[in-house]
Amino acid sequence: MRIILVRHGESEYNPLNIIGGDPNLSENGIKFASNLNNFIENQSNWFPKKCICSSKKRVQQTVDAFKSKMNSILINENLNELDAGHCEKLTYTQFYQLYPDEFAKRYQDKLNYRYPGGESYIDLIERVRLVVEDIKDKGEDVFIVCHQAVSRALIAHFTDEKLEDIPHIDVPLHNLVIIEDGKKKGIITVGDIINDNLIQELFELNK
Ligand code: F6P
Repeated sequence: MRIILVRHGESEYNPLNIIGGDPNLSENGIKFASNLNNFIENQSNWFPKKCICSSKKRVQQTVDAFKSKMNSILINENLNELDAGHCEKLTYTQFYQLYPDEFAKRYQDKLNYRYPGGESYIDLIERVRLVVEDIKDKGEDVFIVCHQAVSRALIAHFTDEKLEDIPHIDVPLHNLVIIEDGKKKGIITVGDIINDNLIQELFELNK
């Protein structure tokens, strides 16, 4: 079973380091969505045709660009980003300035830290469990379009990454995370130039 994870395209909040919210895609994010559509078209021999995604605007705007390439698109709110409670729509600097003790607690134990009025990574890993179980039951390849913390929570279920490392995994924007048979095989940057040989060599995707 092949799982491909991607975060939405860059949002208007990403360059400003704003936490959560429901922003639109930025111009860079719109460009990414269009590049992603071209990528899926060119790589249709191995790319999953079933998409599962969060309901947030930045995700829906990303999915809109390639929806004609999918056989099905399921929106699942359990894939919405980590709920940062009272810290939603703050920048990380504002979070630090307004709630220095909370900020320090999160720094010390990001896995268990629960935002006031919001969620922890442990909560999120539990929230996505039903989505994961359904994917595993069906056994079909899927393309999941979601968010940074949600990608990490999904990696916790689909791979053997250590739980304490989960909140720190690098999931860069505009990159596809490829997971096959419980292993993270690597990531592919979606850009203007698609190097087929590199993709085949790195991931042996035709095997
Ligand atoms: O900054 C983008 C974002 O998706 C936020 O909305 C979310 O709270 C954050 O990433 C999760 O990452 P971290 O847990 O590292 O702050």
